[in-house]
Amino acid sequence: MSLLELDGVKVHFPIKKGVLFNRTVGHVYAVDGISLKVEAGETYGLVGESGCGKTTLGRSVLRLVDITEGSVVLDGTDLAKLPSEEMRRFRRRLQMVFQDPLGSLNPRQNIESILSEGMVAHGIGKDQEERREKIKSILDKVGLPSNALARYPHEFSGGQRQRIGIARALVLEPDVIICDEPVSALDVSVQAQVINLLEELQEELGLTYLVIAHDLAVVRHISDTIGVMYLGSLVEEAPSDALYAEPKHPYTKALMSAVPVPDPEVEDRRERILLIGDLPSPANPPSGCRFHTRCPWAQAERCGTERPELRDVGGGHRVACHYTEEIAAGTLKRTTGEVVPATREGVEDVPPTLPEQAEKAEAAVGKTEQAAKAVRADEVRATDEAEKSPDAGTTEKATAGAGKADTEKADHVEKADVEKADKAEKADKAEKADEAV
Ligand SMILES: Nc1ncnc2c1ncn2[C@@H]1O[C@H](COP(=O)(O)OP(=O)(O)OP(=O)(O)O)[C@@H](O)[C@H]1O
Ligand code: SF4
Ligand SMILES: [Mg+2]
Repeated sequence: MSLLELDGVKVHFPIKKGVLFNRTVGHVYAVDGISLKVEAGETYGLVGESGCGKTTLGRSVLRLVDITEGSVVLDGTDLAKLPSEEMRRFRRRLQMVFQDPLGSLNPRQNIESILSEGMVAHGIGKDQEERREKIKSILDKVGLPSNALARYPHEFSGGQRQRIGIARALVLEPDVIICDEPVSALDVSVQAQVINLLEELQEELGLTYLVIAHDLAVVRHISDTIGVMYLGSLVEEAPSDALYAEPKHPYTKALMSAVPVPDPEVEDRRERILLIGDLPSPANPPSGCRFHTRCPWAQAERCGTERPELRDVGGGHRVACHYTEEIAAGTLKRTTGEVVPATREGVEDVPPTLPEQAEKAEAAVGKTEQAAKAVRADEVRATDEAEKSPDAGTTEKATAGAGKADTEKADHVEKADVEKADKAEKADKAEKADEAV
């Protein structure tokens, strides 16, 4: 038996309407029948677009949201059926690391107080002295100095705060840690450090992880198994290497085709599957295969009416698609969508972003200034020649040249000024846009 097993988990949030009667007028089908297994000491990576239900699934494991249907079994115990008092005891074994380290740490508590809180609640350590010693050893494990104890969350960098979030989970000696977008709020350079730390801790402490992310690159290296979610369901699941080597579900294929490949030769040949439309609302999911409104291979009758099961298709893959084999064999023709060379992306179709615009404006100013300098050099040369030459005609020509150069120079300088003003305006706009964000 696996350490954590989810079977047919559904989380449907009621949509209420009306002031007096507060009627339920529908449901948000955030998680709609997910079954998966996480083996002890392994990492299960869960990926999918924003709003597909990843966080809700993670929260359902901890029973932080009500499970509408299905079971969540940890080490043989169905958490969905536990009375709340017993569930509180089980929570120690299941911990969560959140996306926003600052938002999840109380700014008025120092680190010792933040890390002791859970220990006190779960009766870990006979007194504060013993708890402090344990906290110090965990801080050391996550790469923070022991003098961090008396400091407050705002005194740390984003990466350090996430280390505090990890330490807060570790002091409770959990079996499973659910990491919900653990590095999304961090700089790219710090992301790798935190991912490496999670891997080291797993090796040392034998932890089991459920890592949730929208970014395939984040889960790739850390995960043993990856599950791809679409609109509340799993559409594909496979060992990490197998999924990257040969994605089988059309949605996974589209996601993977958007990831650049470091090898330039492969990158030149890479094709991108463009999906049409946005993620449909989980309050009104499409009938049949949830993906049929955007699937390039969707077949009118069957895909729109019959919901595909997640089935074993060999090679370690479980795929929820009626036509996996035909798509892999190339015998099913695409009905919609577009496949384009990946290199076309963003070259002409996508309007430049504000920083790009500012860069272009700067380049234009640079060019204009160079042109103005060249004109100035011409002018000096022409005047020199005129002074040297005894020929009045030549002098006249030179003077005319200088005059022309003068006019051109003024023209160029004026353009440069306009460009500069333009650039300043664009930078101003960019700043305002940043502030608005
Ligand atoms: N408490 C709630 N009540 C009603 N609807 C909710 C609630 N929590 C989440 N939802 C809805 O459920 C859907 C799934 O949300 P969820 O936060 O699980 O997605 P997600 O995959 O984690 O997205 P993201 O990548 O943006 O974090 C969304 O449509 C969301 O609006
Ligand atoms: S079942 Fe049909 S719509 Fe769904 S992924 Fe497969 S081909 Fe596409
Ligand atoms: Mg989320």
